[in-house]
Amino acid sequence: MTEVLYNCPRCGGLLEADYPGRVLLPENLKAVWRKRRCDNAPVEQSGVWRYREMIPFLDDESHIVTLREGNTPLLAAPGCASWAGLDALVFKHQGFNPTGSFKDNGMTCGVAQAVRLGMKRVACVSTGNTSASMAAYASAAGLQPMVFIPKGNISYGKLAQALEYGALTLQVEANFDQILKLVRVLSEKLGIYLLNSINPFRIEGQKTIMVELMDQRDWRVPDWVVLPGGNLGNVSAFGKGLREMLEAGFIDKLPRLAVIQAERSAPFYEFMEQGGEGDFHAIEEPETLATAIRIGDPISWPKARHEIRTTNGVVESVTEQEIADAKAKVGAAGIGCEPASAATLAGIKKLRAAGVMAADADVVAVLTGNVLKDPDYVFKYHTGALKAPDGTLLTSNYANAPIVVPNDADQIAALLSR
Ligand code: F0G
Repeated sequence: MTEVLYNCPRCGGLLEADYPGRVLLPENLKAVWRKRRCDNAPVEQSGVWRYREMIPFLDDESHIVTLREGNTPLLAAPGCASWAGLDALVFKHQGFNPTGSFKDNGMTCGVAQAVRLGMKRVACVSTGNTSASMAAYASAAGLQPMVFIPKGNISYGKLAQALEYGALTLQVEANFDQILKLVRVLSEKLGIYLLNSINPFRIEGQKTIMVELMDQRDWRVPDWVVLPGGNLGNVSAFGKGLREMLEAGFIDKLPRLAVIQAERSAPFYEFMEQGGEGDFHAIEEPETLATAIRIGDPISWPKARHEIRTTNGVVESVTEQEIADAKAKVGAAGIGCEPASAATLAGIKKLRAAGVMAADADVVAVLTGNVLKDPDYVFKYHTGALKAPDGTLLTSNYANAPIVVPNDADQIAALLSR
């Protein structure tokens, strides 16, 4: 596709990449992909482009801009598993990406397409991670990144990244959903390429998170893949990737997808609870301390519904308190993640308690962002000062507050031997 298009001219729905005539030979490709891990060429070192047969939209590989995205680890977390009531739990930690979130998997593809189209400027609205990622990849490609963010509602770690990576950064006095509408108008008016998850090439890149996961597991399909839901681009991408792998014969079944939303930003949860039919009701003023998923009108809900239904998946919502405690548990395991990512563990605990998930289920939870994305949240939690958006003080059940001591060896020794 060499036209700038995000929606289908016929039905108006978001576009989806398709590759008519693509032939995938699973046994051959599994071996080729494994071999590429030992190759030092940047495109083979990329955990996205290594799987390029799954995303064959480029005609010229020189359009690729890679920062060695993907390659994110699977980390066993026995402490988190027992806390949630599972025998075992593995995290796929997307926070190990170059800009610290899963957005890099999609952004390397979105920016490659921007280069392919000869675009000079790219834009996105973001709760912080997309903008950090876009700023890095666009600057690496020599394009001008333009970032639109809700004023006051993104974490400093993410805002800092947009500034440091050279994005023209506009803080708009509106929320994510309102700014997305604004940016769509502006990008059309000014001929700027839009790199939100309405961009089908970003979805293609995020698809490879599931390909890499299966490759890392030697193609053994887990029972569940759990992820947080905001604008619902990621669940759309995961579902598409899984379906394509099943159709081509890389895997023999689909895992069930579980999408977890934050309680006051959970329009998809509410919609699916009602049966997922009829009008979708957006939440006018979404709230959550997990600012990454503070979204009330998720653009990809039709695709997300399709993927939830296809995988016999579920949607759950969790409270601020549940997210905060789950996050501290991920941290105490030596792993750490940002608040939105911790919704996964909180959701697992809830689904386990409700009997939806079995204790011996094979579960992979995707941690979407790095712990350092939102240090302010971490510090407030551990010092007992974390307040929910409605002003109520959360209980810091697993607090680990710093201790102020005098500059005196005897007093410190006395304290430490207590
Ligand atoms: N987790 C993190 C850390 C995120 O940054 C996001 C989305 C999500 C989960 C939800 O993913 O939107 O595909 O359902 N962040 C976007 C942004 C909206 O602008 O960075 P989704």
